[in-house]
Amino acid sequence: MISALSTFPDRFRLDGRTALVTGSARGLGWEMAKGLAEAGARVLLHGRSPERLAPRLAELQAAGHGAGALVFEMSDRAAMAAALAGAGAIDILIHNVGERDRRPINEIEPEAFARLIDVDLVAAHALVRLVMPGMIERRWGRLILVTSIVASLASPGSASYTAAKGGLAALTRALATELGATGITANAISPGFFATETNLPLAASPAGERQRERCPAKRWAEPWEIAGAAVFLASPAASYVNGHTLIVDGGVSASYLA
Ligand SMILES: NC(=O)c1ccc[n+]([C@@H]2O[C@H](COP(=O)([O-])OP(=O)(O)OC[C@H]3O[C@@H](n4cnc5c(N)ncnc54)[C@H](OP(=O)(O)O)[C@@H]3O)[C@@H](O)[C@H]2O)c1
Repeated sequence: MISALSTFPDRFRLDGRTALVTGSARGLGWEMAKGLAEAGARVLLHGRSPERLAPRLAELQAAGHGAGALVFEMSDRAAMAAALAGAGAIDILIHNVGERDRRPINEIEPEAFARLIDVDLVAAHALVRLVMPGMIERRWGRLILVTSIVASLASPGSASYTAAKGGLAALTRALATELGATGITANAISPGFFATETNLPLAASPAGERQRERCPAKRWAEPWEIAGAAVFLASPAASYVNGHTLIVDGGVSASYLA
């Protein structure tokens, strides 16, 4: 077990811990899952498709990492509960699934708004309720919610997504406050512009070029650049970091004009 006497790099190790990363068949979820596995955690990947998860799982296992996969649609709470019931102890939860709806406000039907809030925000609460009792029992847990810079900076064409991410940021503070005495920390990661597979068309568009210019680093992030934040917040090194949002955006949200 890590203690104050451990050498400094050891405090970033996750040996003996199991982490569930939702939405880890690709994109930022996959990069965070790989980072946690390389830091020593047993990783449970998650997505909706066993076929899409299989090569990722094989890659982790071929590298010698402990790994498994859970398959469920985030809006199906019975499937979620069944999957987690068979998953064993989970020490680290990264809730990374985040659907987007880039339509203008008047085109988003109330049902579509509610569905997105359910998948991006309400599901986080459902997952936390499932993993929390074991964490409290073991007096150790890490809850990490993936928000976005839109949680505090809005742009046109993302109303439901913006509302969901703002809610996740607030939920992070509520979890940190309520669970602080239990050995659990709750933090958020707020990514800026990452050139994930899903975002490649946007990154190559005129809007994507404007975002590149808007960023003080003058580039989109590579997907792997999210992993360090996840490993840090999950690690013993972050034992007193609670209720924090770690922004990983190349300076976008620090700048008025870049
Ligand atoms: N990329 C960025 O620049 C950026 C910026 C700010 C915030 N973020 C946030 O970071 C997170 C990851 O972004 P990303 O771009 O890496 O996402 P992505 O490439 O779209 O990856 C989505 C992952 O989530 C799973 N998923 C999506 N909807 C699901 C649902 N309803 N139920 C179960 N699984 C579902 C997908 O699984 P399947 O294989 O089943 O499709 C896939 O593994 C999101 O929360 C996003 O809001 C990203």
